[in-house]
Amino acid sequence: MCGIVAAVGREGNVVPSVIQGLKTLEYRGYDSAGVAIVSDGAIQVRRRTGKIAVLEEDLGQNGLPESSIALAHTRWATHGAPEDRNAHPHRDHLEKVVVVHNGIIENYAELRAELQEAGHEFSSDTDTEVLANLVASLLEENSGDLHAAIRAALPRVHGAYALVAASASDSDSLVIARHDSPLVVGIGDGVTCAASDMPALLGLTREFLVLENGETAILTPDSCQIYDPNNQTIERAVQHCDWTPEQAEKGGYPHFMLKEIEEQPDVLARTAFDRLHDAEGDVEFESEFGLDDQALCVFSRLRFMAMGTSFHSAMLGKLFLEEFAQLPGDVVNASEFLYSPKLKEGDALTVIISQSGETADSLRAMREVQSRGGKVLGICNVRGSTLDREADHVVLTHCGPEVGVASTKAFFGQLAALYLLALRVGRARGVLSQEQGFELLSDLRHLRPKLDALFSEAAAQAVQKAADILAPVNSCLFLGRGFNHPIAMEGALKLKEISYIHAEGYPAGEMKHGPIALIDDSFPVVAIATPGRTYEKMVSNIEEVRARSGAVVAVAAEGDEKVSGLADATLFVPEVPEHLSPLVNVIPLQQLSYEVAKRLGKDVDQPRNLAKSVTVE
Ligand code: G6P
Repeated sequence: MCGIVAAVGREGNVVPSVIQGLKTLEYRGYDSAGVAIVSDGAIQVRRRTGKIAVLEEDLGQNGLPESSIALAHTRWATHGAPEDRNAHPHRDHLEKVVVVHNGIIENYAELRAELQEAGHEFSSDTDTEVLANLVASLLEENSGDLHAAIRAALPRVHGAYALVAASASDSDSLVIARHDSPLVVGIGDGVTCAASDMPALLGLTREFLVLENGETAILTPDSCQIYDPNNQTIERAVQHCDWTPEQAEKGGYPHFMLKEIEEQPDVLARTAFDRLHDAEGDVEFESEFGLDDQALCVFSRLRFMAMGTSFHSAMLGKLFLEEFAQLPGDVVNASEFLYSPKLKEGDALTVIISQSGETADSLRAMREVQSRGGKVLGICNVRGSTLDREADHVVLTHCGPEVGVASTKAFFGQLAALYLLALRVGRARGVLSQEQGFELLSDLRHLRPKLDALFSEAAAQAVQKAADILAPVNSCLFLGRGFNHPIAMEGALKLKEISYIHAEGYPAGEMKHGPIALIDDSFPVVAIATPGRTYEKMVSNIEEVRARSGAVVAVAAEGDEKVSGLADATLFVPEVPEHLSPLVNVIPLQQLSYEVAKRLGKDVDQPRNLAKSVTVE
């Protein structure tokens, strides 16, 4: 994912320091890198597709003058292909302003059209170049004051951003701003710096302050002046950081898994928002999807195949498809498919889901389908993986690298992609009207701010209480119905994988057909009982568990006193439309398994016997 490093110093050359900082962000994954300086009233930029080493080589050959101000960036492509011209930093067309930016400007197309009308020219496909031009267009009316121009520009920008900007006429200050994407400031000796992650600045300082949402700041070599959203100055205490290098790699989080759980709201934006066409109530995938309306009308069914956590995505892929496109879906475990009778493929499309794109069983299944004359759509997170290269059609999930072995954000990205796929098929087949498509897109857009509640102090306390119940037991059950049956299975898998507590996920209706025999006061049940067509049935199941002295951990909508009155611990979630509840409900279950494993002293990121990518059958 994108990374920012920038610095302004009293003297000396800060370019090597910002490049060094960029290298510490390499683990986030990126496809291009660049750096800009301000010297003698002009902005100079170098940017290259590929690794930072390629940029360094370029700097060796076409060196930049030494500079006490520099802005650098690693880019993970969202708007526009990974090409030199799309790499950051970006300038406006008159080269008055330079910007590096993380996040997504959702209304960039409208802003770009408006700026083009006013004579601005664009040389990239990025939303960031739009931002640079917007700020530059407001510079004159703000008497050349970059901070004032940025403050004037930001209310016009919708979406998430962390940005650092400089003006050609001022080589002594940087202006920074933040909304939803993280940005920290480092206070060094005669140098002030900013980055998307603290580790990037550890070479320059160990004194930090964090910019909060809606704030802007002016950085000079000896100061950092922060402004609140009303442009009032704020004093903020500087914090000392004593991270070890290994912790630093995790951006300060104790485990990659926790970091990745918390990245999920950002994943929603990355996987989905760039693909939403609200006006048409439709979804547009990139060219590698390669299935137009006509092609999508040919298939009489879709078959979803995967392994592990991705298999639970496959289950939801079928449910979304049947709900939005009224087209039958099958779910097949990829390892089982290989040994099933070789039936004719007919007019089915097979969707293979794999975070890594390298899981052996899933790849074998893909090749088997293709050898039988069938077509495969791959959904994966790793560009250039085998699935990406060999599938006939591809949707990438853009989650950024997932390091924790227990998959969290990659699962979330898969669900978002499958939601979009079902919507696209429904629109192509005329099952969903433009208006219905628009409603489903707007449900998704409104989900992101609602996710914040899952990362609040109150939510953390509820997870602690639920962990008190699960950490001491040997075995437990996860129950859900409908859209939340796969989430019950995923919740159980997460707990099993990292805490080694035996857990099974069941459709709640099955409870009375076997698992109920296990329930007593040492066998708790985690029940997902959020609003929807199966709500009352779930409440009955909870009553049945209580009647047998089983402790209940419930996942329930905020304010649901009926369920929380029955449960021993309740993980409250924001209320969302039923079809989006899986994307919400899975998060507290991930947090719960993380907390239990941590308490039990297990190796959260690298559980015993498990591998991130299983490349043997
Ligand atoms: C391994 C990992 C799981 C993952 C599964 C499928 O078992 O430990 O976290 O869900 O492989 O991986 P894939 O890359 O195909 O999604």
